[in-house]
Amino acid sequence: MFKNSRFLITGIADKHSLAMYVAKEIIAQGGTVICTGLGVSKHHENLSDKAKAFLSQNFTDFKSAVHNELGDVGVEILDVSLDANIQEFAQNLKAKNITLNGLLHAVAMDKTIRNKKVKPLLEVTKDEFCDTMNVSAYSLIRLTHHLLAQDVLQKGASICALSYIAAEKVTFHPYRNISIAKAALERITVELADELGRSHGIRVNTVRFSPYIGSKAGNATLNVDDVLTSDSLSPLGNATPQDLAYEIVHLFRPGLHISGEIRHVDGGYHITG
Ligand SMILES: NC(=O)c1ccc[n+]([C@@H]2O[C@H](COP(=O)([O-])OP(=O)(O)OC[C@H]3O[C@@H](n4cnc5c(N)ncnc54)[C@H](O)[C@@H]3O)[C@@H](O)[C@H]2O)c1
Repeated sequence: MFKNSRFLITGIADKHSLAMYVAKEIIAQGGTVICTGLGVSKHHENLSDKAKAFLSQNFTDFKSAVHNELGDVGVEILDVSLDANIQEFAQNLKAKNITLNGLLHAVAMDKTIRNKKVKPLLEVTKDEFCDTMNVSAYSLIRLTHHLLAQDVLQKGASICALSYIAAEKVTFHPYRNISIAKAALERITVELADELGRSHGIRVNTVRFSPYIGSKAGNATLNVDDVLTSDSLSPLGNATPQDLAYEIVHLFRPGLHISGEIRHVDGGYHITG
């Protein structure tokens, strides 16, 4: 299905990342991927030794997971909170004559969740609010902007992002600040779908997925009981990362006329409660 198609996959931390399942499925369907991971770039300023060590370890883990799970695919450092890093990344792809038929935005960060405990919204600082919004929502706009500015993202491409039900409803999961960023991400999806559909024939969709504790982000946020509760509330039980991968790959299909959707791959969880 994806002969001669290439997709950008953001958000792989390790083999359990949701984005890894998507990357694998694209390759299984005959496509190629470029994967980006968080690491130290020349655009980072005043990094503490601790932050530098964290980012270096993250990139090492990312690279080895990609190598082990996907084989010989392109890897690049990308911190989506740094506009200069995004711009340089897009320029480098252009310089290498690399074009993209789509991208997966699978990046999120919220420092107000620690040890599965969430700060009340009333206590969230402006920096915490803006950092979460920048990484988890606004980055979709900037990434798309720079890839289009360099003619890397092709006409007719497909963009997908990942969200969850807490963007719309208060749930029992420990989310507050990040829910607001996810609501923004979903609204960005709709606005970009209109702009880019008209200007470039590009589709933009977001998929809300079941609570998943297997990834680093999921494990830092969720308790086992949360996942068991959503499993029992969902008519079909929790969806699996592979279910998500099938849906994203479907939305990546060339020529599909689906755009501006906020879809659910959650076993029907969203209709309950
Ligand atoms: N795990 C769940 O329950 C669940 C459910 C629905 C949606 N999602 C969403 O799926 C996406 C992927 O999450 P996951 O569960 O696979 O966890 P994950 O920890 O594997 O992925 C999160 C990724 O975000 C990256 N990231 C954070 N800050 C970044 C930055 N500044 N620049 C670049 N990358 C950065 C991390 O390095 C990591 O690769 C996220 O958007 C998440 O909100 C997760």
